[in-house]
Amino acid sequence: MDPRESSGTVADTLQQFDWDALNGAAVAALQHAYAPYSHFKVGVAGFVDDGRLVTGANVENASYGLTLCAECSMVSNLMATGGGHLVAVSCVDQHGASLMPCGRCRQLLWEHGGANMQLMTPEGILTMKDVLPQAFGPDDLLTRAEDNV
Ligand code: THU
Repeated sequence: MDPRESSGTVADTLQQFDWDALNGAAVAALQHAYAPYSHFKVGVAGFVDDGRLVTGANVENASYGLTLCAECSMVSNLMATGGGHLVAVSCVDQHGASLMPCGRCRQLLWEHGGANMQLMTPEGILTMKDVLPQAFGPDDLLTRAEDNV
């Protein structure tokens, strides 16, 4: 049964993480941002299912469209330090305020966190399935693989 259908509130069904530590790590990651074009620094931090903490910051480029979002560098950090599954993520702007990941990065977070990964948002803690409903993901490739042969 979907836990939201139980008698508790959505908040009751969310696992408790040290969100203050996660937000603090996202703010600390801002120092690594390279944003000379937009002047919009972004920091992000995530807890991995083995207890690791991974972080990232945006890295821009003179060819504006090639900008790497903070989430891209966090996912690179995730893979470079052993892989695993993101369980909770916080993304912040340069003032430390919670920032929604862009559409492309929600897809990245879906790949490496899945439907139940928790995300700090300006509206509080939500899950990936809240912020990327009806997502296309790895399961779609698996269940439809024979169509591609
Ligand atoms: N940015 C991120 O790093 N993550 C997001 O989810 C949204 C946007 C960055 C990209 C660019 O360097 C700057 O914010 C302005 O768009």
